[in-house]
Amino acid sequence: MKLPILSTLVSVAAVVHSVSAQDAPVYVVDPSTGFKFSTVQQKYDPPVNKGDLTMGFAFPKKGAKDEYVGYMVARRQGTPGGAGYTGISHSSGMLKSLLLVAWVNGQDIQTSWRYATKYNPPVKYTGPPPKLTKLATVVNASHYSLTYRCQSCLTWTQGGQAGNLSLSTEAALFSYAQGATAPAKSDNPDASIGMHNSGFGVLPAVVKDAETDDYEKLASTPAKGGVAPAKAPANAAPPAGSAPKASSSASPKASAPAPAKGKGSGTMPPMQSFRRI
Ligand code: HEM
Repeated sequence: MKLPILSTLVSVAAVVHSVSAQDAPVYVVDPSTGFKFSTVQQKYDPPVNKGDLTMGFAFPKKGAKDEYVGYMVARRQGTPGGAGYTGISHSSGMLKSLLLVAWVNGQDIQTSWRYATKYNPPVKYTGPPPKLTKLATVVNASHYSLTYRCQSCLTWTQGGQAGNLSLSTEAALFSYAQGATAPAKSDNPDASIGMHNSGFGVLPAVVKDAETDDYEKLASTPAKGGVAPAKAPANAAPPAGSAPKASSSASPKASAPAPAKGKGSGTMPPMQSFRRI
């Protein structure tokens, strides 16, 4: 199944990439948890895509199907202070969907739940509250990453309208949007946000690649902060000269989740990515 990223919707300056659900998955190790995520990547590719996002998903193989673990790695971009936002929609579009918006707030990442019925700035989501647990949060000079457990995130209701994202399918279609203007108040989840002028598109999470027997272990990683990615994952090129140097000492484990380590800019093992052959 070919899943064009919004090719019918894009304007000249928007995203024109296409991602196929049959493309070989790109696996990326999150250095903070040691977990190997199956990812969808949108390369930094100006002027078409001025954002840069690697988004990993892990789904439970059995049990509750209303949750997942997400691993977001984004290039810091925009003004002021590289605090533009990344939004994850829990459906293939912006409207009538649960929107998670995240941006850098000092050494932390602020998250916010939004909802939109029109192509206007989304309002606060006021339906049954999803539960987001930060498993690891990393902010460095060029990138930020957030590993999060998202419970009650795949069903939502607002204004009498219910929606859901099924994991009983070949590819769960999430989508994303990135904006280069920092939200008005970085520590306020209700801060006003601007248009996504850095890119937007569909994120097809191939369910069989994201399902894992290690889900419970990963989802219960102690939430203590994380280890900074030394650079963007392969295929997600950072801007020249902005990625911090990689530490030569540590290398992340390939798949077993490990407890998160210290916060912020401690040891920085290189992030590794694998392509299945
Ligand atoms: C000020 C805030 C926002 C405004 C004014 C806005 C406006 C728009 C507009 C006009 C489009 C259609 C673009 C086109 O067809 O070329 C669009 C698409 C889209 N937006 Fe937003 N948006 C905002 C925030 C967000 C946020 C926070 C998210 C995600 C969390 C998001 C996700 C999307 C996605 C995935 C699409 C493409 C799919 C679709 O058309 O539904 N948007 N937005």
